[in-house]
Amino acid sequence: MLYMRYLNDPTLCMDSYQDDESINFDSLRERIKLPQTKRRLPQCLIIGVRKGGTRALLEFLNIHPMIQRSTDEIHFFDNERKYNMGLEWYRQQMPYSFADQITVEKSPAYFITEGAPERIRAMNESIRLLLIVREPVTRLISDYSQLAANKAKKDKFIRPFRDLVLREDGKINTDYRAVRVSMYSLYIKMWLSIFHRDQILIINGDRMIQDPYPVIYKIEQFLGLEHRVGRENFFYNKTKGFYCVRNYTVYKCLNESKGRKHPTIDPELISKLRQFYSSFNHEFYSLARQDFGWPDE
Ligand code: A3P
Repeated sequence: MLYMRYLNDPTLCMDSYQDDESINFDSLRERIKLPQTKRRLPQCLIIGVRKGGTRALLEFLNIHPMIQRSTDEIHFFDNERKYNMGLEWYRQQMPYSFADQITVEKSPAYFITEGAPERIRAMNESIRLLLIVREPVTRLISDYSQLAANKAKKDKFIRPFRDLVLREDGKINTDYRAVRVSMYSLYIKMWLSIFHRDQILIINGDRMIQDPYPVIYKIEQFLGLEHRVGRENFFYNKTKGFYCVRNYTVYKCLNESKGRKHPTIDPELISKLRQFYSSFNHEFYSLARQDFGWPDE
């Protein structure tokens, strides 16, 4: 009864998702145990990529009645301390679900963590993996914007974008982690050496921003789910500049940390970065068996 009351109270659902909020509708739902539900290990993981649109993807999937998601990023497979706490600890972090529902967890650091694919396979060798990528330079700028915003919150200084992505000799600074994360081909190899290509669905995050419906439709197919998410579940919010979701229990846009304004970057530098990523991109297309058509300069 109490659960139904919360479900039906729209005022509780209007807030956008807060990465750090302790009590909200979602966390309430995750804590409520309905009869015949239990916490289960995930059968599907969103493995990355950082700033690819992982949060939007998770929230979009969550409107499917057969999906339960962990609101928090658990970082179980990329963090030694957490991994050493064992699978039973990991399971305890999952939401309650019915036997026929799919539990999804997302931690974007999995994609770039050596050893994560092996650990995941040891948990479940038939797991389904979702990887959402964006045009590498856009992703890099998004990553920088997030780091800059986090520093600004702490009144700390962040070096200009140019100084971080270029070395003194003018070459691209591959020691900068945000630069490396966009070199997708390096990481996808690691996953394809452990998992069958058919177990990984690679999603175009730039397309999802334009139109989330076909993306979610494809994921429903990939996960063997009935199509239950319709076009009516998405609405474009002009103020936000992005799609938001709604159904009879949820009506929300992501919070202000998603869809930030990016700094203006010198077009010459953008072009230089695109040229740098070009060979990695083409290798990625071939491994992913999908041409994303990202600009080469
Ligand atoms: P920006 O904030 O740089 O625009 P992640 O959740 O993996 O950190 O990715 C964040 C990115 O998701 C955002 O990057 C934004 O562009 C993208 N995104 C995709 N769909 C979105 C949506 N519906 N609402 C907000 N951000 C969305």
